[in-house]
Amino acid sequence: MRGRLRGTAPSCRERHPSEGSRSTWETFRVSANSSQSPAGRRHEATYDSPFMKACRREAVPHTPVWFMRQAGRSLPEYLKVREGTAMLESCMRPDLVTEITLQPVRRHNVDAAIYFSDIVVPLKAIGIDLDIKPGVGPVVENPIRTRADLARLRDLTPEDVHYVTEAMGMLTAELGSTPLIGFAGAPFTLASYLVEGGPSRNHEHTKALMYGDPQLWADLLDRLAEITGAFLKVQIEAGASAVQLFDSWVGALSPADYRRSVMPASAKVFDAIASYGVPRIHFGVGTGELLGLMGEAGADVVGADWRVPVDEAARRVGPGKAIQGNLDPAVLFSTREAVETKTDEVLAAAKGLEGHIFNLGHGVLPTTDPDALTRLVEYVHERTTV
Ligand code: CP3
Repeated sequence: MRGRLRGTAPSCRERHPSEGSRSTWETFRVSANSSQSPAGRRHEATYDSPFMKACRREAVPHTPVWFMRQAGRSLPEYLKVREGTAMLESCMRPDLVTEITLQPVRRHNVDAAIYFSDIVVPLKAIGIDLDIKPGVGPVVENPIRTRADLARLRDLTPEDVHYVTEAMGMLTAELGSTPLIGFAGAPFTLASYLVEGGPSRNHEHTKALMYGDPQLWADLLDRLAEITGAFLKVQIEAGASAVQLFDSWVGALSPADYRRSVMPASAKVFDAIASYGVPRIHFGVGTGELLGLMGEAGADVVGADWRVPVDEAARRVGPGKAIQGNLDPAVLFSTREAVETKTDEVLAAAKGLEGHIFNLGHGVLPTTDPDALTRLVEYVHERTTV
């Protein structure tokens, strides 16, 4: 067994006070030195892939490419298999999850798959009454705003998300040496949906709670960190080669507020999975001023949106971390020449970086031409092949 997936994952007994989940967690412990475990087998199979090498800041045969939100929305084959099945329901069907996750890998020749799910899936799994409304996003029936509401956020056990383990088993059997990226929403972004009750431009209820009752806010984020850490463990133990923590909306905060009110919870999530040694990616939108702190929270790879060039992002993040990004997803609506010019700009800025993973600066927009994505993967591979 090579690399950093070492030792035995910490017993969740120490971290999981919930008696009910103890025995289950014990059976989910990774014996990382054993290629019998899904995590160990996947570590072996994907270790030398360009994506994993770039995460470790090693030399690569070409710059690896994947796209946030590559699975879904923009693909006709996705719309076809999803027909008649609600979003959250499809996340719970291993056959559908497997098919949808594989679709962009087949079509675009990307260097990694991202598990098809949504950031609110673990919240649904512990019984929060929420739905994903088409064209809107997650909507929470009864928002969480009081101390009494906190009790609704119980611990997550592997059985709550058994379909994730099943789907990942099916997926990794198909993926061979292509890494599978697991993911979760970060505590701030999850809290924003829970407190607002749905998508929000200004996060006013969220900020009202954060500033008005700092202790309740800290307890809420700590709860979400526990749940998120547990959810990522399930994914790693089922065979995710890397994980991304999406703090999509945290760019709404100043660095001082981020450090005080968010960073401890995000750091707790990263700490919970540190001993597995799988690369941990951290990303948010409009987070130019937060990049250094987001790296400090415990990421191995920091994702940047298109507002900060990747060389400047690397300077802000500091040494020892790879950078992911950052073509503006709207550029894909322009001419082929313009896409190539803007891609060249990203690649030029990435030239001196220790580790670079090419991605968009945010998710694929729903009406993107899928062929533009296929061409982009080919172009980045061509331009960076050594
Ligand atoms: O390819 C992939 O990246 C994997 C799939 C994925 C989805 N959601 C599927 C999805 C991922 C990684 C997510 C993460 C997610 N979900 C984030 C973080 C990433 C980001 O974009 O910043 C956030 C903030 C959410 C919350 C959410 N879920 C939103 C804002 C929406 C969009 C609403 C819409 O319809 O445009 C969703 C729904 C959602 N999640 C869809 C998909 C494919 C669309 C649902 C549908 O097709 O009916």
